[in-house]
Amino acid sequence: MTKHDIEVTRRGVLATGAATAAVLAVQAAYAQPIVPLASLPSAKVSLVVNGHNEDLTLDTRTTLLDALREHLHLTGTKKGCDHGQCGACTVMVNGRRINSCLTLAVMHQGDKVTTIEGLGTPEQLHPMQAAFIKHDGYQCGYCTPGQICSAVAVLAEIKADIPSHVTGDLLPHASFSADEVRERMSGNICRCGAYSNILDAITEVSGETA
Ligand code: FES
Ligand code: FES
Repeated sequence: MTKHDIEVTRRGVLATGAATAAVLAVQAAYAQPIVPLASLPSAKVSLVVNGHNEDLTLDTRTTLLDALREHLHLTGTKKGCDHGQCGACTVMVNGRRINSCLTLAVMHQGDKVTTIEGLGTPEQLHPMQAAFIKHDGYQCGYCTPGQICSAVAVLAEIKADIPSHVTGDLLPHASFSADEVRERMSGNICRCGAYSNILDAITEVSGETA
């Protein structure tokens, strides 16, 4: 072994040691203290979900979406973006649709929540579920529970004369039209692009022609 070989080896050892020390320092800097579960802020909340009373003790930061999916195992409601941008998490609360990813469960004490599991059963589908199947209103199906919950709410909104951005005459009513449906369903994104078939399904259930 030459003197040069010994020098290279010594440098290699020093470099390896320095790198290891740097990694350990970074790990120490970013290591999070382990917080005992019992010390997390929690609260009791009672919901009526699909007609059943549910009493939960939740981390107060739990969204309604996570309470439904992770705590009540109602996985029909989907998490798409978790940022209020896709509509996959749409459920009805006290008869009005909301994005369940944008609201905390503890804000809904005593509220009545309806998810896709509460609209119909495989044996007895809700008319909107049946119409989506008949008109092929989905491909992958990931957005479909949110689409159906929204579609049911849209027909109720039109029936209740609640105007939308495209309603021409605010006095006194909103009437069914393809434009009304498109506008009101615009918060429900379908990456598969099943929009025209979704419109057909909603139109059939409305009993009118768009
Ligand atoms: Fe709630 Fe996308 S998951 S809007
Ligand atoms: Fe695939 Fe809508 S059916 S995203």
